[in-house]
Amino acid sequence: MSSSDPPEDTDLNPSALGTKAHWDSLYALELTNHTSNPSDIGTIWFSDSDCESRIYQYLTSDILSLPSSTTFLDVGTGNGHLLFSLLEDGDFEGDGMVGVDYSEGSVELARNIAAQTEGAAGVKFLQLDVIYDRPKLEVFGERIAKEGGFDVVLDKGTFDAISLSDEVVQDGTGRRVYEVYPERVAEWVKVDKGILLVTSCNWTEEELVRRMTEGGKLEVKGRIKYPEFTFGGKKGSTVCSVAFQRKI
Ligand SMILES: C[S@@+](CC[C@H](N)C(=O)[O-])C[C@H]1O[C@@H](n2cnc3c(N)ncnc32)[C@H](O)[C@@H]1O
Repeated sequence: MSSSDPPEDTDLNPSALGTKAHWDSLYALELTNHTSNPSDIGTIWFSDSDCESRIYQYLTSDILSLPSSTTFLDVGTGNGHLLFSLLEDGDFEGDGMVGVDYSEGSVELARNIAAQTEGAAGVKFLQLDVIYDRPKLEVFGERIAKEGGFDVVLDKGTFDAISLSDEVVQDGTGRRVYEVYPERVAEWVKVDKGILLVTSCNWTEEELVRRMTEGGKLEVKGRIKYPEFTFGGKKGSTVCSVAFQRKI
């Protein structure tokens, strides 16, 4: 490696957060809590970074000029709160929204919360493993199939979780599951104007960009700014959000 080469990323150390068993038991608990107290909707990831309102501001900014009919897919949706937060001010319609997660408990929790949330009746939640399930676009609905994908694919903390899995895909390449993630999600983004917005706390912005673009299917479209801190002479933030567009 020469001094001009970009630094190599190292894999993240696998942890329980990279296993389905972890998420199944978390959502079983959150479902029980929600049933006994409907105002308890469970964890909102990265809420201390004011993440959802920054995502909302970016998606409603003049940079993107998204119409109310914009379609959204939330990958690894958890309790579905990111989608519900986009409905709050009436800028977008629930009919164009789909949340997917590999944990059945997440899907049940998100559906229960949708039933109590104004404007969320049209939001669809499906159980789907982003890495191993390769569904046809029809599973997301006729409109998504006809339009060739979603306008906006969202990921808040899901690539992070998948990066903590030690699983290797059985396709002969020896790649860990997070290394195939970009090519999987890119398939659901509309080719011309669609975007994928990934929010991470495990990767730096630079690493995230490298990981998501190295397969050649995605390129950077924009970034969300978060407050920065300086540590050891280096600037950084605890969370980063980067928007990618699918290359033609
Ligand atoms: C850190 S949580 C984030 C949840 C939600 N996006 C939020 O911001 O609150 C990660 C989510 O990814 C889901 N997940 C992890 N691996 C997945 C996979 N292979 N396919 C689909 N969902 C997955 C987990 O079940 C969990 O809900």
